Amino acid sequence: MLRIGLLTSGGDCQALNATMRGIVKTLMTNSEEPIEIYGFEDGYQGLIYSRFRVMTPADFSGILTRGGTILGTSRTPFKRLDTPEADGVEKVPAMVHTYHKLQLDCLFMLGGNGSTKTANRLREEGLNVIALPKTIDNDTWGTELTFGFTSAIDVATKCIDDIHTTASSHGRVFVIEIMGHKVGWIPLYAGVAGGADVILIPEIPYDMDNVIKTIEHRMETGSRFTIVAVAEGAISKEDAALSKKEYKKKLAERTSPSIVYDIAKEIEAKTGRETRVAIPGHTQRGGQPDAQDRIFATQCGVEAALGCLRGEFGYMIALRDGKMCHMPLEDVAGKLKFVDPQSDLVREAKALGISFGDEWPRLEPPPSEPPGLTSQIVLGHVRTPPCASRGGVLPSCGKIWEVSPGASCGN
Ligand code: F6P
Repeated sequence: MLRIGLLTSGGDCQALNATMRGIVKTLMTNSEEPIEIYGFEDGYQGLIYSRFRVMTPADFSGILTRGGTILGTSRTPFKRLDTPEADGVEKVPAMVHTYHKLQLDCLFMLGGNGSTKTANRLREEGLNVIALPKTIDNDTWGTELTFGFTSAIDVATKCIDDIHTTASSHGRVFVIEIMGHKVGWIPLYAGVAGGADVILIPEIPYDMDNVIKTIEHRMETGSRFTIVAVAEGAISKEDAALSKKEYKKKLAERTSPSIVYDIAKEIEAKTGRETRVAIPGHTQRGGQPDAQDRIFATQCGVEAALGCLRGEFGYMIALRDGKMCHMPLEDVAGKLKFVDPQSDLVREAKALGISFGDEWPRLEPPPSEPPGLTSQIVLGHVRTPPCASRGGVLPSCGKIWEVSPGASCGN
């Protein structure tokens, strides 16, 4: 008998069910032993309090396209892992106890960064754990993609598309808040896909003067509206220069609900143009997974199940250089993956004329710049390559993964 546990942890996303289906179908197809499946309710809470359902393959049928999670989820912050629950229950010993009580052979944990840290802790306690990279934010270190990300891009893009028509009718500026926690992957991708004019992300601190100049330039050149896509974690250059403590204090003193309101207010005051805020919010985590997410979620589920059948544990399933990999949990736990400000997509978006608020693009050809390799000709404008003119907040292009010898790809 092969006894497995499944849990979904942290904020939900569209492809959790598709992933669990992938795990269970693969085990059913390939295991020589009968399978017993324990589905823990509401993430690690189910493991702590031994709240589970004994499930059958039928429970995983027909859920490929269903958003959310059939198991329920919750957040169990890693930093409070060693703080007993309100009723005195010690979380880690309780989880270890449930695992052994049910004689599990493997726990499949579908979760993001924080949840992966907890999974690594359970690995250190001797449990067989396999993590699968879930999050709309795409900020999990060690994998190029997380499931949930592409569906969230679609939702955010649709929002930008829809806002275009009303912004254009009224000749307004719209500031759209896009999820992503501390990183800018969704706003960057949805911003490009939706044709935003300005994209502000945490990895590229902005200067409001540049944002205002971009809007004014659009107005002067005949555009009736401007779409500003703003990451919920976007930060100005001024705030990025503050210490962590000073910035936290500033956030605590903020009177508006979030940064987009401050940005919109300043835009309206400085440009005189009617400005509105739009927030797609949790719709970005809702609805059905898109085709790409269904495929990647299924791949993750299959690889995790095959790894389990080979008796391989203690890693997160990942995508690197287009290959499915095992990344050791101790390598990925607690690390975030940021947008590289020097990346191709940022460079190309800038070449297209999208402002990131960090610099005021030179729109006229410089008088004496020699022709040749140092310039790019983009729609009639000459611009120096962004990499040459900007210092990034992250290491420049090149190697992004430091990988331990335990990592393996193309299993
Ligand atoms: O991590 C996913 C995410 O949707 C983030 O983009 C966002 O910052 C956060 O979760 C919202 O969390 P909650 O659902 O707890 O409000």
